[in-house]
Amino acid sequence: MTETNNIKDILKQYAARFNREIDRFFPFPAGDEKRVSEAMHYSLTRGGKRLRPFLVYETAGLFGVGFETSLNTAMALEMLHTYSLIHDDLPAMDNDDLRRGFPTCHKQFDEATAIIAGDGLLTYAFEIMSRPSTAADPAVRCYLIEMLANAAGAFNGMVAGQMLDLIGAAYTMDRDDKEEIIRHIEEMKTGRLLRYAVEAGAVLGGADEKELQALISYARRIGIAFQITDDILDLTGDERTMGKTLHKDEQQNKMTFVSLYGLDTARKIAEELTAAAREDIAFFGNRAQNLQNLAAYIVDRNH
Ligand code: IPE
Ligand code: IPE
Ligand code: MG
Ligand code: MG
Ligand code: MG
Repeated sequence: MTETNNIKDILKQYAARFNREIDRFFPFPAGDEKRVSEAMHYSLTRGGKRLRPFLVYETAGLFGVGFETSLNTAMALEMLHTYSLIHDDLPAMDNDDLRRGFPTCHKQFDEATAIIAGDGLLTYAFEIMSRPSTAADPAVRCYLIEMLANAAGAFNGMVAGQMLDLIGAAYTMDRDDKEEIIRHIEEMKTGRLLRYAVEAGAVLGGADEKELQALISYARRIGIAFQITDDILDLTGDERTMGKTLHKDEQQNKMTFVSLYGLDTARKIAEELTAAAREDIAFFGNRAQNLQNLAAYIVDRNH
């Protein structure tokens, strides 16, 4: 069995276990407002690779932290990620009808409901993070929450990246600093949440400074490699397998490594980033085998 086949199965097993926990977080209210929890639940439970939760779990696991202990952080992060997808798909943004193989939230419900379902997931993520079961030490909890707000927010976080992604589409491609711009966009819009997964896992596990820095470097590299692969798959992927509408980036004039350098060079950059990411965490040895293989899978995936 190849490394990436093996990690695919491990990720699937984790996702199945994670999915079984979701309903515990959903006490549907009796009133008519339950429509918004239904929309939140809908988007959260229709597919999804659960890559970010898995990264939290695997990184925390390096330090002996188990599934239950990392679950709140993993769940909150997946909720926040799902909110970002719901809003990303809205007509005013990427205008997509298909997500994770199902109708997007605004198609299944309606646009206004999709907007508040995103708000609901974002807010609930922070509520979950504030629970004592997230981390017994209130100072650790506070730190995890601050990091999450940072990673998700408008000041060098995912929201900033989404803004740049929209503005970037209007830039002319004859600027000299295109590669820098693209790297920055990808690092913000996608990289920050992936990096949070690893950083939060490291904090939950009590990593020392050297371990933390190595893991952050790993996460930054796989974050960009992950978005480059998303951009490659947007052009070359199979729509059924991907579960989302493809050829959007070209259509919407998005700035990506693929639009800048073409497929082969983009793939090469992603592969180099992956190799360097694997080096970053080599000193963990076998303990980090799954993180090593996950880095390879990120550029090798077909969805
Ligand atoms: C898609 O993320 C959006 C990007 C940041 C590129 P994923 O590819 O992790 O999507 P799901 O969660 O598996 O649906
Ligand atoms: C999405 O990037 C990034 C976030 C949702 C923050 P894309 O717009 O490329 O993601 P897909 O291709 O729709 O999943
Ligand atoms: Mg987008
Ligand atoms: Mg999109
Ligand atoms: Mg995309």
